[in-house]
Amino acid sequence: MHLWFGLLFLNILTFFQETRVFTFVLQNTPHFNSRCLNEKFLPEKCVCKDNIAFVALECTNFTRLDDINKYFPELANKEHSMNKLVLIGAKLPFLPKLALQCCFTKLTIQESYVQGLESADSEFMFSELKDTFRELKVIRSKYMQLWSWEAFSALDSLTLLTVTESDMTLVPETFKKINSNSLSKLTLSKNYIKYIDEEAFAKFKKLMYFDISNNQIMSISRKMFPQKDSLLREINFSNNRLENLPEDIFIGMNNIRKINLANNKIKTLQKKAFSEILEKLVELDVTGNQIRCCKPLEWMLSLKEKGTSLKGRCHSPSNLRNKNIAQLTAQEICCC
Ligand SMILES: *[C@@H]1O[C@H](CO)[C@@H](O)[C@H](O)[C@H]1NC(C)=O
Ligand SMILES: *[C@@H]1O[C@H](CO)[C@@H](O)[C@H](O)[C@H]1NC(C)=O
Repeated sequence: MHLWFGLLFLNILTFFQETRVFTFVLQNTPHFNSRCLNEKFLPEKCVCKDNIAFVALECTNFTRLDDINKYFPELANKEHSMNKLVLIGAKLPFLPKLALQCCFTKLTIQESYVQGLESADSEFMFSELKDTFRELKVIRSKYMQLWSWEAFSALDSLTLLTVTESDMTLVPETFKKINSNSLSKLTLSKNYIKYIDEEAFAKFKKLMYFDISNNQIMSISRKMFPQKDSLLREINFSNNRLENLPEDIFIGMNNIRKINLANNKIKTLQKKAFSEILEKLVELDVTGNQIRCCKPLEWMLSLKEKGTSLKGRCHSPSNLRNKNIAQLTAQEICCC
């Protein structure tokens, strides 16, 4: 009996020791995993990071095209699994085709000044990546106004597009040219967007998540979004300057679950805008608006029964100021 316990104990001890040694190896050899290219072949100013879900080549402070021209052609001929390129603090007149060509299906550009892509000819720019390039994120970067979105027209697998905390002031006409076959998540939050092209997102039939919060948008129109069979599930317009919503804005959006309109200047919400989506709506946030709690809002009382989470407070009339909209009664809003 004692011997058996002794053995068990020894086993446990060995197990822990081995784990410790293993952890030690992992922590102290960042390129231990062969999915990264051996350090000595990596471009100058770059490191490789294996993040399980992806293997990133992270390059800091590229300021000359030579930083790319010199080392990147080699990447195509070497054995590795790097599939994401992260440029931090880059200052480049354009992003050369060569930067992505070898293998990258995800690109993140942050704290950078990149004035566009080498070519707006998408077939040229992404020739080998047409079926594989999935993800572009631009974060805290400048010169977004100079980008021609036409360059993304050939990308059949582009799923995620983000431009955030950057200097985008409008969603231009070329935005429509982005390949619409696969884009499911679009984030344009925290920019300075004032103007959106009429049909900017209308072709994105696969779009499910749309976030344009924290901009300076004053009006929106139904035409901006896919007309029929829209897959949109979540729309985030919070922190803009919307004063009202067109009455047809959610018509045909049969999959919508969450709508965030917080911190705008909206005074009323027309029944007609919401009538088609009431049954499926899970969350409606109108916090921080100028909602007038009067008769036209009566339809909202039914949201509670349907289990929709409704956030927001009345702004007027004065007797209802700050009253939680979800707790209003028919009596209270009967008479103005
Ligand atoms: C990149 O440049 C910035 C600003 O010049 C500097 O502060 C930073 O240390 C540089 N980073 C690297 C990794 O060279
Ligand atoms: C909407 O955007 C705001 C501000 O960026 C953010 O805090 C919030 O999490 C977003 N909500 C949804 C449902 O996406």
